Amino acid sequence: MDMRVDILTLFPDSVRAALDVSILGRAMKKGVLEIRCTQIRDYTDNRQQQVDDYPYGGGWGCVMMAQPLKACLDSVMSTSSGRRSRVIYLSPQGRPFCQEEAKRLVREYDHLVLVCGHYEGVDERFIQECVDEELSLGDFVLTGGEIAAMAVTDAVCRLVPGVLSDEECYTGESHWEGLLEYPQYTRPEVWQGRTVPEVLRSGVDRDIRRWRRRKMLERTMDKRPDLWEKFVPETPEDRELVEEIQKERHPVPPPPVLDCRPAREEDLPALLEMAGQARRYLGEQGLEQWQTEYPGREDFQEDIRRGEGWLFTADGLPAGYICISRRPEAAYAQLQGEWLSCAGPYVCIHRMMIGEAYRGGALGGEMLSLAEDLAAGWGCAGIRVDTHPGNQPMLKLLGKHGFETCGAIRLQGGLEDGQPRRALEKLVGKTWN
Ligand SMILES: C[S@@+](CC[C@H](N)C(=O)[O-])C[C@H]1O[C@@H](n2cnc3c(N)ncnc32)[C@H](O)[C@@H]1O
Repeated sequence: MDMRVDILTLFPDSVRAALDVSILGRAMKKGVLEIRCTQIRDYTDNRQQQVDDYPYGGGWGCVMMAQPLKACLDSVMSTSSGRRSRVIYLSPQGRPFCQEEAKRLVREYDHLVLVCGHYEGVDERFIQECVDEELSLGDFVLTGGEIAAMAVTDAVCRLVPGVLSDEECYTGESHWEGLLEYPQYTRPEVWQGRTVPEVLRSGVDRDIRRWRRRKMLERTMDKRPDLWEKFVPETPEDRELVEEIQKERHPVPPPPVLDCRPAREEDLPALLEMAGQARRYLGEQGLEQWQTEYPGREDFQEDIRRGEGWLFTADGLPAGYICISRRPEAAYAQLQGEWLSCAGPYVCIHRMMIGEAYRGGALGGEMLSLAEDLAAGWGCAGIRVDTHPGNQPMLKLLGKHGFETCGAIRLQGGLEDGQPRRALEKLVGKTWN
């Protein structure tokens, strides 16, 4: 006998009738299981066969007495020597029962004694004296422990080898590995206008298996987010399927259409808004760059007047700004270091900024590429730019697009007069992968 279950109850006939059928009934006949239901009332030591009494302290209902429960338990245990036994009291106060608990019980014991309470429950001293653990069917209160005992018996016994025809009968089912099972279909092929999914009729085992696995993942995601949160896809197939599902459910939006044109007076509010965002962004990184009123309205107006300001749009909305100038920068003549294009005219980039919604995208590269196109058209040898030595996002962007550090400068004039900056240059026409 692989598993024995003793159910101590006031209603042994009803419990027996419910468990003695179908799969468990057949397993008992085969001798794989033994399920016994014992009447607690038969073990009272009073003539009225009274099993319950009023609660100490008063209050509603009656409490099952410890004596008949203990005598009943002793009698059951006297016939189970040599077995790994576990005495379980079914109680709404117990640990919630689940598939993992069923697996544990079948793995660690071959004799379960399930004690069913009734009325207001059982005398606490019986629990303290005789019970190994308490299990609950869920966070609700039943009138008696029988339904819970039957549920535990059924869930545990179907895992006992030999009860079901094949291990696969339960290892692929809901809750076995933290997932819910895939949907099942049987004949007819079309019912009420609903057709069985084509893949299940294809006969291609590999496709069927993959489809089912995907459905298990999807169903758990949708029906039991609490289980899904705990699930870790461990196999390459699971990881691939999760990615596939997520891609389908959250398609990446197409990148915005970028465009550019010379900036205009009416763009000033958008430019000032972007400058404010950039000021906050740099401030959050602890940088002193752009922490004054610079760049302000007059700076942008001046760029626009000179035709040096360029507005970049994403899907028609202001997204970035860059000033591309051919005027030499006084501070660049005082470089501590060496420019790449020592002789010849160069282009300067100033006041480059990207709206916060567009950071990390393709916009920065597009802006630098405009500077390069203009520089090439104007016959300039290089593009020069300076930024705060701690402005990592800007340095990273410049590095990615082929700018090289040439040395250090100090700003001359304006609100940031004297601040140190790193100076970088890219030779026109030079490409980086
Ligand atoms: C009405 S209940 C007693 C509830 C108890 N007074 C309490 O509040 O915790 C009677 C019996 O039903 C069984 N029972 C009730 N709810 C249960 C649950 N959620 N899981 C397992 N057994 C339960 C227990 O055996 C219990 O002794």
